Amino acid sequence: MTADWLRDAILYEIYPQSFADSNGDGIGDLRGVIDRLDHVASLGVDAIWFNPCFASPFVDAGYDVSDYLQIAPRYGTNDDLAELVEKAGERGIRVLLDLVVGHTSIEHPWFQAELRADGPSPEGDRYIWTEELPSEGWAVDLPGTPSWVPSPGPRPGWYLRNFYDEQPALNFGWLHPTLPWMDAVDGPGPRRNVEALREILDFWLSKGVAGFRVDMAFSLVKDYDIEGGLAASTAVWRELREWLDTAHPDAVLLPEGTEPRTGQRLAFDADFELVIWAAHASLFDNGGAGTLPWQSSVEPFFDAAGQGSTETFLEAWQRAHEGHPDRLVLLASADHDFSRMRCGSRGPEQLGAAYTFLFTFGTVPCLYYGDEIGMRYLPGMPDVEGAICNPGYNRAGCRTPMQWDSSANAGFSTADPSSLYLPIDPADDRPTVAAQDGVPGSTLTMVRELLALRRSVPALQGHAATRVVASGYPFAWVRGDSHLMVVNPRREGASVAVPEAAGASVVWGSGVVVSGETLDVEGFGYAVLELAAG
Ligand code: NOJ
Repeated sequence: MTADWLRDAILYEIYPQSFADSNGDGIGDLRGVIDRLDHVASLGVDAIWFNPCFASPFVDAGYDVSDYLQIAPRYGTNDDLAELVEKAGERGIRVLLDLVVGHTSIEHPWFQAELRADGPSPEGDRYIWTEELPSEGWAVDLPGTPSWVPSPGPRPGWYLRNFYDEQPALNFGWLHPTLPWMDAVDGPGPRRNVEALREILDFWLSKGVAGFRVDMAFSLVKDYDIEGGLAASTAVWRELREWLDTAHPDAVLLPEGTEPRTGQRLAFDADFELVIWAAHASLFDNGGAGTLPWQSSVEPFFDAAGQGSTETFLEAWQRAHEGHPDRLVLLASADHDFSRMRCGSRGPEQLGAAYTFLFTFGTVPCLYYGDEIGMRYLPGMPDVEGAICNPGYNRAGCRTPMQWDSSANAGFSTADPSSLYLPIDPADDRPTVAAQDGVPGSTLTMVRELLALRRSVPALQGHAATRVVASGYPFAWVRGDSHLMVVNPRREGASVAVPEAAGASVVWGSGVVVSGETLDVEGFGYAVLELAAG
């Protein structure tokens, strides 16, 4: 059962390294977030999603966990997290953590114990080991994909990694174990890991956390027959969901990606169209961060050139609802893995159309920290904590410190600039919260106005129906039976005639004129309109 609050919620993603540094060490921390909760609340968001903040050697920015039950000392303590949950709760904001379950760090005591052993554990291996390099199955060495790594310790053979070498894959078994090194999904190693997952969920949920975003959620079971593997991974989540139903019925689970449809109960509360996925890329990705091996570059719809299409996104959105009309789809402005909304040649004048869509379409929007002021994706940033996965793909540019004001380090930290996690945007005109606060027409004001509108108009929230009435330039859709939205993300003006426009009046927006059934929209124009009564 999806928690009611999620249906109408807006999420805010915080990359903890870069939000606010309270102790002057150059890296963000939980106290820094606590100190800035009023800003988060001022946006009108309902929940914070934190990237992993657990103990870690940070080879992959914390997606390599060495202790799931301990906040990384550089961020503070478990008590700080509890205080954060409480203080956020006082402002009506929930906290979601990031659960990295497909792999751990090589420094995790589980891995260290297996590395020191001279063979398989009698209790079942938590990781996937082979004494002979298999000639088939995960033998390909593509960056960011599972492949074999020679054992760096006494244990003979190789272990399977999930992403970087330092991220050994946890063993959730195979649906069809065909080789000696493969355990069955109900083998002792895989079952130990499922039980461990339950303990981790229970530990944090008992501290008041509202739920989790789950990293690589469908990669647990690794059959070559991907359909089988995906479905079997989903079965693990279904089992956990059934336990959550009684242990923590309000807990929310959000996957990285789209949950496979297996004909059974869905285990997650939403599908998450993240930035590296085709549907999101077709809307917003103008190539700033590079291209991943599995992505083909497409012209994004939200761009001045006006060469894109809404087709890929609308197909994905429709697919998500097939057989599940109430399914929630999370859509992010950006995230820690790719470009930002403001990237390349996309300037602040183009954000109105993009944000009107993001915050009023029938999705659960997720705002990436800094996108509320139009922080830029910064090309050429150094490779910090595994940000550069391959020479053509740099995630550091979307992970730079939050820009608060005009003080040193843009108010992010009192550290010497040379010790900051990543450099601050060097531009003199870099956007800041202070410069935009209360300023009519600023990106921050626009975001606050849009979120306030969404809160006050039920038809704009997640639960109301969405009907697309024009899918090109301009793009228009109706929510519930009371509101019509139109956006024109290209530089050139655009018009469309739709019966719904007759008698509709603009309640918020810029550059939109209604004449009869025609919506004339200036380049980069956007509006929320109220439909004529009756
Ligand atoms: C997806 C996360 O979003 C990304 O940041 C991370 O590097 C990989 N999973 C591996 O955990």
